[in-house]
Amino acid sequence: MHIVEDLNGLRGQVRTWRAAGERIGCVPTMGNLHEGHLTLVREARRLAPRVVATIFVNPLQFGPTEDLAAYPRTPEQDQAGLAAAGCDLLFAPTVATMYPGGQQTQTRVEVPGVSDILCGASRPGHFIGVATVVCKLFNMVQPDLALFGEKDFQQLLIIRRMAADLAMPVEVIGVPTVREPDGLAMSSRNGYLTSGERGQAPALYRALSVVAQALAAGLPVAQVETEAAAALAVAGLRPDYVSVRRAADLGEPTAADRELVVLAAAYLGRARLIDNLRVSRPVG
Ligand code: PAF
Repeated sequence: MHIVEDLNGLRGQVRTWRAAGERIGCVPTMGNLHEGHLTLVREARRLAPRVVATIFVNPLQFGPTEDLAAYPRTPEQDQAGLAAAGCDLLFAPTVATMYPGGQQTQTRVEVPGVSDILCGASRPGHFIGVATVVCKLFNMVQPDLALFGEKDFQQLLIIRRMAADLAMPVEVIGVPTVREPDGLAMSSRNGYLTSGERGQAPALYRALSVVAQALAAGLPVAQVETEAAAALAVAGLRPDYVSVRRAADLGEPTAADRELVVLAAAYLGRARLIDNLRVSRPVG
């Protein structure tokens, strides 16, 4: 696996592959890779002969009081995992490479509406930072396809909309969430949990599972949202939101909508955990 930090090195390699007619799959990450990320790399490998992973802890998507400085960085372990998963090239730019003119004056990308709800309401500006860096990474890597975990369901929809709205020649692919045996969605931020909190954390997945079953049984949305938030509080988590939305666009569901997603975010110790489950509501 090649590792490059600079744009010229990346572009040179991409040009060679393109000249040979090889398709390129891209897996953007912020590092501290776990099985969820490596699943994306393996899936990219299955879909394209060349795989580029990126590792960049993007300051633009962190709020002023968030965990940018503390965000876990494990470069050697990440490189070994990527190589074993079949990654051809790791692009690991510095902040100066990504934002040479500084962050304040960086041109930004905003996907309106869907960026301002749910996690976007609690983390103002977060999805502008995500859309901006992903747009820029797409322009740098020029992939044919890009893979993202469905754990970050809102992020996935925002990136898909950005690519469609800006006519980017890249297919955005969502890959199912990888879970620990007790249901907890894998996340770099799980590393912030103490062992006691790690025991409490699967309550998030359990609450979502109860919501999914209740919706499938026809119970009203408002009731199941309220009950799930209460269950999280009883389990010792501090719910940010539990919300049932239309899966296609995260709009408020009407009685006619069948394909739904229940999304939740909750604070536990130093961690802000997010998760979601898709639900097909029965007709009638
Ligand atoms: O999901 C992430 O790790 C990040 O938000 C992403 C997509 C790599 C952009 O920095």
